[in-house]
This record gives sequence, structure tokens and C-alpha cells, in this order.
Amino acid sequence: MKKVLVLDACIRREESRTKKLLDRAVGVMKELHEDWSFEILEVDRLSIRFFDQESLMERDRLLAEGRRNHPRFDLAHQFAEADAIVIGAPFWDLSIPAALKVYIENISVDGITFGCNAEGLYGKCKAQWMYFLTTRGCAFENTDMENGARYLEGLCKMFGIDAFYEVHAEGLDMEGAEISRLMEAALAEAEHVAEGLVL
Ligand SMILES: Cc1cc2nc3c(=O)[nH]c(=O)nc-3n(C[C@H](O)[C@H](O)[C@H](O)COP(=O)(O)O)c2cc1C
Repeated sequence: MKKVLVLDACIRREESRTKKLLDRAVGVMKELHEDWSFEILEVDRLSIRFFDQESLMERDRLLAEGRRNHPRFDLAHQFAEADAIVIGAPFWDLSIPAALKVYIENISVDGITFGCNAEGLYGKCKAQWMYFLTTRGCAFENTDMENGARYLEGLCKMFGIDAFYEVHAEGLDMEGAEISRLMEAALAEAEHVAEGLVL
């Protein structure tokens, strides 16, 4: 059984257009691959917080003691052991929702998801690919303001995940936007990319 970890950061849930893309992509994968299992995490509903001084010091102490089996690192192990990662997250403030960032802060653990040696960072994750689905209010082609997909693609390099796939619908909140046409095109692309993914 191959393990696909699905990170759902579609905070508006049933109202979310990004969730529609995510559901379509996951639906196609479930249909095509009976031998893949799907673990779905709603990242904004996890009992995790951003680091403060105390929690960061506790983490550093555990790592210094080599206690990477501590429950606080369970999410990091789950991420590191997944065969593939799927993320659905809307574009917020030129990037991703804070809940997803907090999740990333918690799973980025030296010695579990990545390592660092004299040459620099290297990845320790098993995942062969990350598939990111998003929607954006405005359009960002030919600008340098898109920091969501760009950030996650960079993280793939740090985690040792070789392939990054992204599907987006953008310009959805712009005046005169043909929302259904934009969404239909993105849904078709989400399906097409999902069909081509292998493990
Ligand atoms: C808190 C918040 C921040 C947002 N920030 C941006 C932004 O920086 N740029 C942009 O183009 N759209 C922004 N939007 C609009 C969303 O990207 C857009 O409506 C998207 O389709 C929402 O996805 P959803 O339907 O999955 O929730 C923001 C929306 C919210 C709620």
C-alpha cells in the first residue's frame, strides 16, 4: 500500500473553491489506485501552534537529546514516511494560510524531514512528488508576487521531494471574472495531472 498524505488547508471548507480542486484531484487518484491509501489532515484543525520561546527551547532540547521518537514529532514522521504529498491551500496574503505555515513549522525537523551537513541542506523525505492545488483572487502571471507555490516548491528541495506539480485557478475575485470558466479549466487540469501521477 502506498501512502498519500493530503494536507487540506481549505479553511472555508464547503465554500472553498480550492477544496473543489483538491477533492477532484484526490477523487481521481482514489478511483485509479486502489493500492494507495489516503491520510487526510485538516491542518487548521490540528492541535499545533506556532513556536514561542518555550516550545522552541523544548524542541531544541529534545533534538539535542536525540529524542526524535517524542510524540511532538509524530506529524514530522508521518510527513517523512508518506510516498506522496497532496496540498490544497488558497492563496492568502501572497502566500499560504498561516495554519499551513504552522504545520510546516512543526514538521520541519532536523534529522526527520531534512538534514544539514557541510554541503548544506539535504532531504530525508520518502515522497516522490508533491501535488499542490490552489486558487487566487488576482492574477500573478509575470509578477514576482506569488509566494505560495514558489515557497512549497522550494520546500520540496529541502525535503528531498524530487517532483512538484501545481494547478491553480487565478483571477477569481477580479472584476468581470468568468469564475465558472476559470474553475472548469482548473478542474480539468487538476484531473489531468492527477491521472498522470504514479507511485
Ligand atoms: C485572508 C485572505 C487573504 C487573501 N489574500 C489574497 C492575496 O494576497 N492575493 C489574492 O490575489 N487573493 C487573496 N485572497 C483571495 C483568495 O485567494 C481567493 O478568493 C481564493 O479563491 C480563496 O480560496 P477559497 O475559495 O479556497 O477559500 C485572500 C483571501 C482571504 C480570505
